[in-house]
Amino acid sequence: MKAFIVIICFIGLSYEAEWSYEGEYQWPGKCSSGTLQSPIDISTKDAVVDRQGDHIQGPLVFRGYQQVTATALNNGHTLKWSAVPGTPAPVLSGGPLKGNYTFLQFHLHWLSEHAIDGFKYPLEIHMVHIKTGLKLEEALKRPDGLSVVGVLCVLKSGPAAEHALAQIIPTLPELTYRMDPDNQTMAQILDLSRMLSPEPQSFYTYHGSLTTPQCEEAVTWIVMDKPLVISDNQYKLFSKIDIGGNTFNYRALRPANRKVYRSVASCASIASPTFIGFLFSIIMCAKSILTTTLVKGICIITNMKRKFIGTSIKDCNKLG
Ligand SMILES: *[C@@H]1O[C@H](CO)[C@@H](O)[C@H](O)[C@H]1NC(C)=O
Ligand SMILES: *[C@@H]1O[C@H](CO)[C@@H](O)[C@H](O)[C@H]1NC(C)=O
Ligand SMILES: [Zn+2]
Repeated sequence: MKAFIVIICFIGLSYEAEWSYEGEYQWPGKCSSGTLQSPIDISTKDAVVDRQGDHIQGPLVFRGYQQVTATALNNGHTLKWSAVPGTPAPVLSGGPLKGNYTFLQFHLHWLSEHAIDGFKYPLEIHMVHIKTGLKLEEALKRPDGLSVVGVLCVLKSGPAAEHALAQIIPTLPELTYRMDPDNQTMAQILDLSRMLSPEPQSFYTYHGSLTTPQCEEAVTWIVMDKPLVISDNQYKLFSKIDIGGNTFNYRALRPANRKVYRSVASCASIASPTFIGFLFSIIMCAKSILTTTLVKGICIITNMKRKFIGTSIKDCNKLG
């Protein structure tokens, strides 16, 4: 009988401990005691451009992002699409990362959590990855346990702007209210490469935390520089989503008291299912880097995919 009572109390307490965006300043754990918290306002002039490749050792490599089997959930704080266990999960590597990071889930914040030079965006996509081979509880205890890619979004009108989110929008009505985690939507195959801006871009990277309790300082943040274009009509649909009675689901900015690195510009290389397709995307990327950088009269060197195409894409002065 005693055991029975204890169990009931425990469930009651853990329900009580549910957090909210209104009560942000009472969040537990590292959220209040931590010193390397996220999100931050990224100052472009203070970011250290890593030209020598000391901290950032090359472009990011996204493998398997074009076919991800995922189910969706409204957890009362966000809309989240998680990779279905047992299906091939995408793998992120390169950039500042040592080793491989397996994709777990992506979720959305409106407004954005990160700011760049004090400017916030309407939406931010977070693609959450775990160091390959670790269990979540292990990863949360290590500074390099997780890596989150942040993609900032801007609004445009017109059908062309609908492409990036087109595959998730039809699911939104099913996600209007908070759901039981055991009751996610039917699995769907998503092309996550559509959620990265196709333009050549740099990224910012720094060591920070999860932006929800327990705010563990286990995250290598990678915030993409070029915003993704999404449609203003699609964006309006997020105002219908019930996230605990709040209009927005972003955490307030935390002190940016640490070094933020900026990569040189390159295309996120997204491995296509076929080698030829992969080569093609690299060539297209190289072309667009050259045209955009030549026009601006600046030169950007990329050493992308040296091992696949034999030689690096050269200094554009020499090509010009
Ligand atoms: C990362 O994954 C790739 C492809 O599966 C593999 O070749 C490579 O050895 C892995 N790297 C590490 C450090 O495990
Ligand atoms: C799961 O979803 C179905 C259909 O939307 C609903 O009828 C059922 O009550 C839900 N179950 C739980 C545990 O939330
Ligand atoms: Zn997030």
